[in-house]
Amino acid sequence: MDFKDSLTAFNAQKKGSFPEKGKVNTQISTLIFKHLKSSGIGSHWIENLDDHSMVVQKVKIIPLEVVVRNRIAGSLAKKMGKEEGLLLKKPLVEFYYKDDSLNDPFLSDDQVLAFELADAATITELKALALKVDQVLLQLFNSIKIDLIDFKLEFGTVKSGQVVLADEITPDGCRLWDQQTGEKLDKDRFRRDLGMVKESYLEILNRLKGIIK
Ligand code: TMP
Ligand code: ASP
Repeated sequence: MDFKDSLTAFNAQKKGSFPEKGKVNTQISTLIFKHLKSSGIGSHWIENLDDHSMVVQKVKIIPLEVVVRNRIAGSLAKKMGKEEGLLLKKPLVEFYYKDDSLNDPFLSDDQVLAFELADAATITELKALALKVDQVLLQLFNSIKIDLIDFKLEFGTVKSGQVVLADEITPDGCRLWDQQTGEKLDKDRFRRDLGMVKESYLEILNRLKGIIK
């Protein structure tokens, strides 16, 4: 899996890039996959090939974006007319259909079943895995003084049919807010033209490097 220097937002309508982004995200995702592994959560990650790519298990990607939310932000804040940052009583798992041409629409569990994107057992498994990842990442980011607001995961199936965590976990697909300043340290800086995009990704990398060996 190769990490590019480009970044997109709003289903690829907005495009940008910054130097070394691929390298920075390779390191961030590697550290997070390693930490998850040491916490008993496997992923498709096998090893790194060079500073911008990793060897991963071959999987068939399940065409669902599995979003976990701890606090209200982004599309949920807009949909419900709520302020960003409000804590949810318990983490929320949502499915979106992974199709940019349709703008990744939200799907109910019944819609996932109706369109045979996943069966009932897989839906249950995806939710349980996503919540397990959330628990580990909440603790990890809390220890580096960052609030994990929400994030997106993708899963795939290997030959045996087993479901594994795939894709990447980087500031591209997470909302990460500094606990002290409330500053956003994720792709919202690019989406919302807040500046300091590279510096924010590097800040996440450096804090993670400080605690994951
Ligand atoms: P949202 O507020 O736009 O629904 O996004 C929730 C979280 O999921 C946010 O951290 C960004 C991430 N996400 C992606 O990485 N890719 C996507 O296509 C979508 C819709 C969300
Ligand atoms: N991942 C999507 C895109 O590349 C949506 C987003 O992150 O805003 O456009």
